[in-house]
Amino acid sequence: MTAPRKTAIITGGARGIGRASALALARHGFAVAVLDMREAPLAQTLAELKALGVPAMSFLADTSDHQLAKRLAAEVVSEWGRIDVLFNNAAVPQTKRLLEITEAEWDAEMSVNLKGYFNWSQAVAPIMLAQARPGVHGSQLGGRIINTSSVAAHTGGSPHAISKFAYAAAKAGVLGLTKGLAKDLAPAIAVNAICPGSIETDRTREGFAPHMQRIIDSTPMGRVGTPEDIAVVVAFLATMEPCFMTGEVLDVDGGANVN
Ligand SMILES: NC(=O)c1ccc[n+]([C@@H]2O[C@H](COP(=O)([O-])OP(=O)(O)OC[C@H]3O[C@@H](n4cnc5c(N)ncnc54)[C@H](O)[C@@H]3O)[C@@H](O)[C@H]2O)c1
Repeated sequence: MTAPRKTAIITGGARGIGRASALALARHGFAVAVLDMREAPLAQTLAELKALGVPAMSFLADTSDHQLAKRLAAEVVSEWGRIDVLFNNAAVPQTKRLLEITEAEWDAEMSVNLKGYFNWSQAVAPIMLAQARPGVHGSQLGGRIINTSSVAAHTGGSPHAISKFAYAAAKAGVLGLTKGLAKDLAPAIAVNAICPGSIETDRTREGFAPHMQRIIDSTPMGRVGTPEDIAVVVAFLATMEPCFMTGEVLDVDGGANVN
């Protein structure tokens, strides 16, 4: 009997790191569901996934909607029968400093960058827990959750960072969520986080431009990161067998924050 095709849900999958990771998982044979609020790039990514010959679907949706996450996860299961990987990746910048930000702006940042990750983790966890089976390496995983945090969670943001303290606070929250859920959901579900450094995407290109030489000079690997630099790590976390790693935080920043 052939194993069922693995499936993945990627939030913020229309562009940038989410898009590159969706394509990377498709190249590994996953069926991929991408979710985003940007209609045109979402349709483009869906077309690219289909061109790779894997089952693919897209949802125009907001991760901060708790009930919607449950409904959409159920839709994926009714279509594909299982969910193996959740890549919690959708986030928005927040450029304001403490004395400028409003309460509503703080709440909005938390509702996407932190609560959105909770919403989707809670939506997929029952499905992944039900998929766990005893295996040769102890418990055979029922699923994997991968969370995009940021090096800003450790540093509070570099001098050229577009986003300030509220973003760093949400991203630090993602690390607490990752470590807490790793224990809560073990041994059935592995939960790990990636902290990207400076990655050139549609979101960051303009903001990085005036600081590009400084970014390169302060990065031991001697270049700015690309979405593919993160996507290979997502693919590793999504596919490594056996998997004895959970609650880990992988900095992918070209060495910029080595200390
Ligand atoms: N680019 C970097 O340098 C960098 C560094 C550290 C961390 N990160 C993190 O990596 C992730 C991806 O960043 P990126 O640079 O690819 O950004 P991006 O803006 O290019 O992509 C993020 C996607 O998420 C979507 N999105 C935002 N809010 C959403 C919501 N509420 N519901 C659904 N979709 C939503 C956006 O529409 C966008 O398509 C984010 O979590 C970001 O914080 C990026």
